[in-house]
Amino acid sequence: MERIDKLLASTGRWSRKEVKDLIRQGRVLAGGVPVARPEEKLDPAVALTVDGAAVDCSPFVYVMLHKPAGLLSATEDKNQPTVLDLLPLELRRRGLFPVGRLDKDTTGLLLLTDDGPLAHRLLSPKKHVDKVYLARVDGHVDGEDVRALADGMVLAGGLRCLPAGLEPLGDGSVCRVTLREGKYHQVKRMLAARGKPVLELHRLSMGSLALDEGLEAGKWRFLTACERARLKEMEDAP
Ligand code: URA
Repeated sequence: MERIDKLLASTGRWSRKEVKDLIRQGRVLAGGVPVARPEEKLDPAVALTVDGAAVDCSPFVYVMLHKPAGLLSATEDKNQPTVLDLLPLELRRRGLFPVGRLDKDTTGLLLLTDDGPLAHRLLSPKKHVDKVYLARVDGHVDGEDVRALADGMVLAGGLRCLPAGLEPLGDGSVCRVTLREGKYHQVKRMLAARGKPVLELHRLSMGSLALDEGLEAGKWRFLTACERARLKEMEDAP
């Protein structure tokens, strides 16, 4: 809960004095009810309006995107469409960027934000935030593959991977892969090294943040207050 005058002033649109005047003139409503005093506190779930227009007081924006295949996980590219092309102009203007990358042909959960420090901490190799993928492979993963990934694979060039989870589903042509790091093309390289090249890859979750099953490919939504709180917990975890 934050003071309403402080929140409104933090948008940079009004000074503290102007905010006080707006409140005194009854032009600021919280949840449709006029704010009586500048020091009143706002429940983050309640909408704030000034002269009838909604005011977004949150310093940062967090967006869940169901990335479709065919887009780059980048903010801009001269020749190819990027995931930013799926967002409205107001959000693109805020300078949102993807937290980590998915390959062009990978689908699934992508978090976008303008909160640089949060992105930096979530991506830190020390954080070991679990990333869970569903992979369809050419072949069938088996117990030996499970053991190889669990032991920590060494890829071509001597690149050593942390132990990873592998769970065959059904006949093993589809599997769930859990990584605690994010090396370049990691899932594809690990499974290719096992002789089971990836045909399709889809990210299901990143730490406590799971892709909303109701979100179709190419669609996005803001994170809920609960998802944002869990993101902060991940960020603050040792
Ligand atoms: N691993 C890959 O190989 N590709 C991705 O897009 C993500 C993880």
